[in-house]
Amino acid sequence: MPIRLAVPNEIMPGERRIALEPGIAKRLLDMGVKVCMEKGAALSSHFPDEAFEGVEIIDTPAELYKGASLIFKVQPPSLEELEMIDDGVVIVGFMQPHKNEDITRKMCEKNITSLAMELVPRITRAQSMDALSSQASIAGYKGVLMGADLASVFFPMLTTAAGTIRPARVLIIGAGVAGLQAIATAKRLGAIVEAYDVRSATKEQCESLGAKFIDTGVHADGEGGYARELTEEEKAQQLEVLTKHVQQSDVVITTAAIPGRPSPKIITADMVDGMKIGAVIVDLASEGGGNCELTAPGETVDYQSRVTIHGPLNVPSQTPVHASEMYARNLFNLISPFITEDAELALDWEDEVLANTVLTHDGEVKSERYRREEISK
Ligand code: NAI
Repeated sequence: MPIRLAVPNEIMPGERRIALEPGIAKRLLDMGVKVCMEKGAALSSHFPDEAFEGVEIIDTPAELYKGASLIFKVQPPSLEELEMIDDGVVIVGFMQPHKNEDITRKMCEKNITSLAMELVPRITRAQSMDALSSQASIAGYKGVLMGADLASVFFPMLTTAAGTIRPARVLIIGAGVAGLQAIATAKRLGAIVEAYDVRSATKEQCESLGAKFIDTGVHADGEGGYARELTEEEKAQQLEVLTKHVQQSDVVITTAAIPGRPSPKIITADMVDGMKIGAVIVDLASEGGGNCELTAPGETVDYQSRVTIHGPLNVPSQTPVHASEMYARNLFNLISPFITEDAELALDWEDEVLANTVLTHDGEVKSERYRREEISK
């Protein structure tokens, strides 16, 4: 039977993205897939229902899920949504299994095959499916704009009739996908940019984008291209070198993360005490608790009327058009190789990307990485 794809409205408060966009809907329809979307689901991403030509628009989630064999989501399904979803379907989306053990268990009970976008391996072949990267890139860009907005200074150098204005000093901590995009964006706005990361490969990457790399002497390359957690000695060494740079900055953008662990605390309260009056920290690691000890995730803290500490959550959702477009393409690139000429879904478990991305299948948790990170939590 041809696939019946259901794309619901995202119900998590503040989520403005959707897991489909008109171009991807057309490509799926051309492959013979029956594409269904909940009424008005894409409005928060500024796509009206009429933009989805050929897609069946369905009034309620219960009707939408009925008979669906494949579901595209952004956020993990809630327990209430899972009640409406048939047993044995395939769901693709971010699953955040560390935060959602009950949901993962429920998906096992319902024999649901869940493909977790955060588990897509970071290999060359899977780059077009890498939603962590597409969304992190948006976060890095937007984080700098937030910093520029909250800052009490201009970013570029300006030579005006009222005198010359010095460019802002921006420090980016964590030079992964979000951090590199943040460097590029801050440079484009004319700031003087410094950057820091614990992985050895990042020095060259930061410098190639025009940032000055800060070498703290700490090298913490972990498994699979990610960073590992620092030892107490390394943390002290990092703190000693970074303090001066943090305190010279007008805007600090932090993005440091370690898979499956809370965000490392890199900026201490003492460091913030010594920051310039009017300085800003945009903590893009807020989702994992933040890189600054004073970050309140989801809030903007006015610290002693001196420093603004902004802890935004779900930043990609604030650029919903392009975030949805890129995310929908990531999903399509992951799934389309397994759509047959008869528009059926034939998942190939020998495929390296699929084998790594599956979270639950056949009533059990399949992801080795999730199991390993659960144990080391
Ligand atoms: P992430 O979101 O897990 O972490 C962000 C950054 O924080 C990382 O660069 C990490 O090294 C850094 N970090 C962690 N602890 C730190 C600390 N104490 N101080 C300073 N920085 C700290 O990283 P992301 O952006 O998801 O990238 C992870 C890896 O995946 C990178 O090696 C990246 O190059 C690689 N990658 C590979 C791709 C591919 O080949 N297909 C695609 C995208 C990423």
